[in-house]
Amino acid sequence: MFSIAALTICLLFGLLYLWYKAEKRKYADLDKLPGPVPHFFYGNALEFGNNIVESFNNIERLFNTYGPLLRIWQNGLKLSVFVVNPNIVEYFLSSNVHIKKSAGYDLYQPWLGQGLINNAGEIWRKHRKILTPAFHLKVLEQFPESFHKSGEVLIKKLKKQEGKDIDIYEFIILYAMDAICDSSMRIDVNAQETGDTTYIDAVKRFLEIYLTRFFSFFNKYEFFFQFSPKYKQYRKDIEYLQSFTSSVIEQRKRERIANLDEEETDEFGRKKRRKVFLDILLDSNQMTDQEIREEVDTFLFGGHDTISSTISFGLFELTRNPDVQERLFEEIESVVGIDKDEPITLGHLNEMGYMDRVVKEVFRLYPAAPLIERELQEEVIVDGLKYPKGTTISFHLYIQHRRSELFPEPEKFDPDRFLPEYVASRHKFAYIPFSAGPRNCIGQKYATINTKITIANVLRHFVLQPVEPAHKPILANDAVLKSMNGLLIKLKLR
Ligand code: HEM
Repeated sequence: MFSIAALTICLLFGLLYLWYKAEKRKYADLDKLPGPVPHFFYGNALEFGNNIVESFNNIERLFNTYGPLLRIWQNGLKLSVFVVNPNIVEYFLSSNVHIKKSAGYDLYQPWLGQGLINNAGEIWRKHRKILTPAFHLKVLEQFPESFHKSGEVLIKKLKKQEGKDIDIYEFIILYAMDAICDSSMRIDVNAQETGDTTYIDAVKRFLEIYLTRFFSFFNKYEFFFQFSPKYKQYRKDIEYLQSFTSSVIEQRKRERIANLDEEETDEFGRKKRRKVFLDILLDSNQMTDQEIREEVDTFLFGGHDTISSTISFGLFELTRNPDVQERLFEEIESVVGIDKDEPITLGHLNEMGYMDRVVKEVFRLYPAAPLIERELQEEVIVDGLKYPKGTTISFHLYIQHRRSELFPEPEKFDPDRFLPEYVASRHKFAYIPFSAGPRNCIGQKYATINTKITIANVLRHFVLQPVEPAHKPILANDAVLKSMNGLLIKLKLR
């Protein structure tokens, strides 16, 4: 009896071993890429450290050690390719086949459901098609008005901080929340006036947990994570975030019925509503209430967290580069005039060439989404290496944008590297803050316009100065690129 049991166990282990070997063999080609020595069970999972600052620095160390294309075993059986080589990046990002995000994005699902960032396949195609008109020129033209309205409150709040050392991010995040709700949903949340950070705090806690789960061997799986002491607060935060969005949608529905003054007349004299993002969703009649809520959740996240980081990094960099700041101020004054409260339009922005380069340089040094991933749906051969179905491709935009081979003196804040002659001499996938290809950022124009208008408005009112002693941001990938010790600056009224 005993020997039959022992034999069965030996057989099972034998089969398991053969299966393990066969699974590993799939990656035989990619395993030849440089990378740290893996453990047979947990792979290279311990390479990243215990927190987001460590993992951010360790990823940089890995690229410095192993070069622009390396392999990381996520565990004993699953392999990721880390890449900052524009040729390989172009191959995958421009593909219409490899559009599925990696398993890591599933961790967004409890909050964002099947929203655009997460989903793939037919749902993604359908939603992307419905949402694309939300960023057409006609809609974009309405954004500056919203940014101006929220910007006036921002300037009022900042005036009270003159001469003090402030963390500019704390002000910009509330501004960005007001701006996205007003511009995309036509809802006044008054985040700046009330100082209410309940939503922002819940997002922050969700993202902290998201990142810990992303890099954790066990907590990735709901089965293990539900026993974590953080689980209860996590569920509570998700419930709050989703109920906030539902209330925004309900409020907009009510206002659409009541608010006739929003209507305008078309060229045939017919009444026509000026549509914003949420109206486009509501009018599409192709989405369920839950799908609409998930897209609104996705856009609120995409529209406030990324933007606030970018604008804050931009304002901070201007304190370190007074020459750039002065040249930019002169351009703004020469295009918009000396009236500091004159609303900035898209027409003004089109005339600001230097502003365009400055903002591009901010996006280069501080790409708000520093890491994006895909999971291959089919086996492919690239540069003679077989990438099996299921391989994760990790694109490290932050590291790529700081490669000296692509951007000489990469740490230097130099807007002129975006002069046409330099752009033409670079690989077209060297600079990809908004990703590229079919799954690029749908909010790219929104983000660019908001960043430019906000920086211009702040600069028209204040000289931005560095604090003393000089502030050194501690960067980390908090799902969005952030400074863990804030972004300290000082403001002097002009
Ligand atoms: C500076 C600001 C921003 C940066 C740097 C940025 C960057 C990115 C990147 C790199 C992606 C690709 C993500 C991936 O492949 O996993 C992306 C996707 C996306 N972004 Fe942005 N984003 C910004 C602002 C915004 C804004 C303002 C919105 C909405 C108003 C937005 C909405 C989205 C959505 C919905 C997607 C998913 C698109 C799809 O897969 O079809 N983003 N963004």
